[in-house]
Amino acid sequence: MTKKKAVETWDDLKGLKSTADILIPLDPLDRVLGQEEAIKLAKIAAIQRRHLLLVGPPGTGKSMIARALSMNLPKPKHEIRVVKNPENTERPFLEVLDEQQVLDEESIRAESVGKLMDPENAPTNVAERLGYLCKNCKTFSSPTEIVCPSCQKSKIEGVANTNPFGDLIGGLLESAMPQMVVGKDKVHTTRILADGTEETVVFERAGDKIRMLDSKSLQKRSQLNKKSNQKVLVKLNRDPFILATGASETELLGDVKHDPYGGHDKLGTPSYERVVAGSIHEAHEGVLFIDEISHLGNLQRFILTAMQEKKFPIAGRNSQSAGASVKVENVPCDFILVAACNIQDLENILSPLRSRIIGCGYEVLVDVAMPDTPHNRAKYAQFVAQEIQMDGHIPPANIESVEAIIEEGKKRAKADNQPNSLTLRLREMGGLIRAAGDVAVMEGAKMITAEHIIEARRRSRPVEEQIKEKYGSYQKGVSKDISKAQNEKSEYYFENEHIGDQMFQ
Ligand SMILES: Nc1ncnc2c1ncn2[C@@H]1O[C@H](COP(=O)(O)OP(=O)(O)OP(=O)(O)O)[C@@H](O)[C@H]1O
Ligand SMILES: [Mg+2]
Repeated sequence: MTKKKAVETWDDLKGLKSTADILIPLDPLDRVLGQEEAIKLAKIAAIQRRHLLLVGPPGTGKSMIARALSMNLPKPKHEIRVVKNPENTERPFLEVLDEQQVLDEESIRAESVGKLMDPENAPTNVAERLGYLCKNCKTFSSPTEIVCPSCQKSKIEGVANTNPFGDLIGGLLESAMPQMVVGKDKVHTTRILADGTEETVVFERAGDKIRMLDSKSLQKRSQLNKKSNQKVLVKLNRDPFILATGASETELLGDVKHDPYGGHDKLGTPSYERVVAGSIHEAHEGVLFIDEISHLGNLQRFILTAMQEKKFPIAGRNSQSAGASVKVENVPCDFILVAACNIQDLENILSPLRSRIIGCGYEVLVDVAMPDTPHNRAKYAQFVAQEIQMDGHIPPANIESVEAIIEEGKKRAKADNQPNSLTLRLREMGGLIRAAGDVAVMEGAKMITAEHIIEARRRSRPVEEQIKEKYGSYQKGVSKDISKAQNEKSEYYFENEHIGDQMFQ
């Protein structure tokens, strides 16, 4: 296999056969074409923890930049939990653990597991009492086998081995109670250590194996049991990118679920277990990405409070629900806000929110095109390689077809009043590449060629363009369509009338 090559200028493509030879950068921000200003600010935002508002038309890389920014952030360092408050169950405590504390707990958990062993390696009397060993013929079998598969005698104590129906009893019990197992769940024994002291050892069933817990594992297990009255709200190992586009109030800010028993100690689900984190909390130490931010309407107010305080309480948000009386104060939500919108929606963003962004971050207008230079042409080739890799269902593109894509990109930039440029409306360009790939696949071709691009271009024309081609102009097409349905002489008009008559008969 030939080594893949990074492409920085058009000359770098010389000698390459197809986009399969192009090296795709590892840093996600380097995969974004153009948008130099936005990328520069995203890099600053990642290091300095600043907010970002990206403004511009669809499909130009806003979401891509937000996602790439989150991948440039250090790993989250804290885990957020709620803990039962025995004195006031409706005010669960908050616990924020650092990485070391979570790791320590994991090692306690690992040690509390004890040692798994095959029943053959356990002491004979233990294997017998746990139901793995037949007392009669000393053959090992699973405790779920009530009848010994070797001597056909029942392994259940008290069922006489001489009973002629012993095998049937076992069989009946097995079919009637499939969960039934022979023997005890747990056996307590003691052992003498090398220094002459005695320690308690517990053996318990673990599927086909036996688990041995020495005094150290037993101690770790009781340590863990003490910690059982808690719930992890936001895990240490988490995706630092949280998408909150179109989120509802409870999704955004968290909630306390309803419990028909009002969290009653014995009947209901305890309050702390019903607490659910919102996107603002899940984005703690990461990125909260909100596309079309203005569509959040009044919820923008909560976001600005959360941004300012860096913590936000979680409470039941439905006043009719039993969750309404439960509240956890000061839940951390120190996120980087990356918001996006179209130019037209700018005026619908709450001005105090914009002021927060400008006060601690940047607003940037994304570009719709980039200059047609040898460097940017090479980046277009890299883009084609990226889109093909991401799609996963289409073959690589040859260099000639990349040139055809560049020509199309140039044409589209011109239509945007950006002469001598390449369009950055790249979602649509990605669509063209995929359509060309589909043509190649249907032909059984190994590579996307310039002809495939031309065919894809024809197929993926917007419907308005198709109308123009067919009727001469878009307007003519519209009037033809209307006149047909509304013209009294039209056969459709007659049919409609007719159907109408029938209906009222
Ligand atoms: N600047 C770019 N560089 C590389 N690929 C891009 C770029 N812009 C768009 N794309 C491609 O188009 C896809 C859609 O882009 P993205 O979702 O980032 O657009 P957007 O600006 O967020 O659009 P919208 O306003 O509709 O949310 C990306 O996944 C990527 O494949
Ligand atoms: Mg987007």
